Amino acid sequence: MVKAIEWINGKVVMLDQSKLPLEVSYIECTDYHKVAEGIRKLWIRGAPAIGIAAAMGIAMAAQDINAKNVRDIEKGLEPVFSEMLMTRPTAVNIKWAVNRMKNSIRRMKDSNPATVKEMLIEEAKNILNEDIEVNKAIGKWGAEFIKDGDTILTHCNAGALATGGYGTATAPMLIAKQQGKRIHVFADETRPVLQGARLTSWELMQEGIPVTLITDNTAGALMKKGEINLAIVGTDRTVRNGDVANKIGTYTVAVLCKENKIPFYVAAPLSSIDFSLKSGNEIPIEERAPEEVTHISGKCQIAPNGVNVRNIAFDVTPYKYITAIITEKGAFRAQDIKYLMKKNIDLNKIRLNSS
Ligand code: MRU
Repeated sequence: MVKAIEWINGKVVMLDQSKLPLEVSYIECTDYHKVAEGIRKLWIRGAPAIGIAAAMGIAMAAQDINAKNVRDIEKGLEPVFSEMLMTRPTAVNIKWAVNRMKNSIRRMKDSNPATVKEMLIEEAKNILNEDIEVNKAIGKWGAEFIKDGDTILTHCNAGALATGGYGTATAPMLIAKQQGKRIHVFADETRPVLQGARLTSWELMQEGIPVTLITDNTAGALMKKGEINLAIVGTDRTVRNGDVANKIGTYTVAVLCKENKIPFYVAAPLSSIDFSLKSGNEIPIEERAPEEVTHISGKCQIAPNGVNVRNIAFDVTPYKYITAIITEKGAFRAQDIKYLMKKNIDLNKIRLNSS
């Protein structure tokens, strides 16, 4: 399975997703600025993957800090935390990864700096490895919603490329295939950066999952013809009331699903749930450069010089359109996500009976 990011000999190595599928090439980041640049420029993208990249960037930066004690490491990392947090605003995973790295340092405040530096490398690797396990668990729960012969719509890329491995939205598809279910996936091309065309279709073809690429405006027509049974997408941030921010166009897919009585599922690792926000209106939404819209892959111009452009990278799908949110702990009604904040909750009481 394709790997979006790895820690190799003290360096962060990322697959350059901006070049896929035409070229498979890797970028070796030898300092944290390069990691941040990779996140900003979408060499690495997808909420969990950019969280992992941020953690690895922090671990790498820590190695160069001249520290007499743990406080020196914390202080030396402050600009690194800030730079990572400023890369992309919508995915909560960067904030989550920064907090996790900060907390791991605080827990070791009386240790010697060399031990803490080693620990930070291990913590970043743990974040990656745990993500893979989380995605497998999402896959197990999500596969219960997939029947033999289903056709599944997905939007953007929430596959292995967007994570440590396995993907979130694609994990249920991979497990369903392993279970012997015959499935077919429709991948929205996902204008303007074409994550569906360039990444999801490429990834699923490699996994031997039959996939058909469609333009974003085709999904409704296929639903109306009865050619789509369910939709599964990823999320960059899910909030307390169950609203979900994901790639622009996700809201349209959800509304179309409701209109056509098609279940709409969101695959969401718990790390992408932001319990500090009450509703989707509070999620910061990234707007990107106009050139992503006026040019294809930065090369071929398709709009007049100087045209006004809005390039909103994410939208918010209100909870009422979501059939279930699939996490590593099970699938829940979107409006029940808030209960996961509570400790010692009986998950079986709020988990959807997915069978
Ligand atoms: O702009 P991108 O490519 O980072 O957007 C990615 C998405 O919208 C994904 O669906 C989301 O991050 C979930 S990835 C498991």
